[in-house]
Amino acid sequence: MTTTRHLAPADVAAALRADALAGLTATPKALPPRWFYDAHGSELFDEITRLPEYYPTRAERAVLAAHAGEVAAASGAEVLVELGSGTSEKTRLLLDALTRAGTLRRFVPCDVDPSVLAAAAEAVTAEYPGIAVDPVVGDFTAHLGLLPRGGRRLVAFLGSTIGNLEPGPRTAFLAELAGTLAPGDSFLLGTDLVKDPGRLVRAYDDAAGVTAEFNRNVLRVLDRELGADFDPAAFDHVAVWDPADEWIEMRLRARTAQVVTVPALDLTVRFAAGEEMRTEVSAKFRREGVEAELAAAGLRTTHWWTDPDGDFAVSLSTP
Ligand code: AVJ
Repeated sequence: MTTTRHLAPADVAAALRADALAGLTATPKALPPRWFYDAHGSELFDEITRLPEYYPTRAERAVLAAHAGEVAAASGAEVLVELGSGTSEKTRLLLDALTRAGTLRRFVPCDVDPSVLAAAAEAVTAEYPGIAVDPVVGDFTAHLGLLPRGGRRLVAFLGSTIGNLEPGPRTAFLAELAGTLAPGDSFLLGTDLVKDPGRLVRAYDDAAGVTAEFNRNVLRVLDRELGADFDPAAFDHVAVWDPADEWIEMRLRARTAQVVTVPALDLTVRFAAGEEMRTEVSAKFRREGVEAELAAAGLRTTHWWTDPDGDFAVSLSTP
């Protein structure tokens, strides 16, 4: 196993400072969702995937369980690259199918969180003895061009993580990704679908409050990494459906007026009572939209599968 680090701890620290400075001085304030995922945040997300209200993980797993054999046959992949791999839990369905098909030689999981990545890579190494596992610590929006080339590749981007990108960055991401694909490579994309807003909001505002803790975790990250004095308990978790943009927005709402200092940025930030700071968009998709966005990037959709309830789609496309 060879771990490649495109994100040295100093790069991560610099990126956090830049994002925090830009986001905390913007109007309205906003922080990118990437900073949820320290070790504790990754654990909370893992807990979210098991919540009764959070259907996307189960729905995507059902799609992969039903169609991984077709993905393996259509892709003929020798190398599986997974962007934003996390625990690589659902990926095992692909690894199983590709191993059964006899084509797979190498697995390259890529994630920003080195702790979750190392654990996942070790587990996969032990479970799939014939396959080389070469994890990459990196940011899928910044390091696409640096991912290993060669061999027939299947690039998987699951979990609807693409929904965290707004339309502009999403177009740029898909174009860059398509640019790294060679003829014969394929792209497997998981996208959560537009549905009843009530179900969507409940999936992002669960009764047990795990998503609220996950949301507040970004404040703990700023406190620890930047010496900030956010009081996470002074912020309410907010999840709203935006019907015009067709995305869920997560926000943190200041319960009272407050002044927060961020020593590493030499910054003082004021929140009015009730002021909301955006921490995530999670876009929901329609088939026509996904196929059009892939086509605009030069990718042709060859397969479209959903779970039986039509909640979540997995598509396969090729350059
Ligand atoms: C990991 C981006 C797919 O948007 O559903 C879960 C993250 N945020 N609950 C999503 C998340 C709140 C998740 N993704």
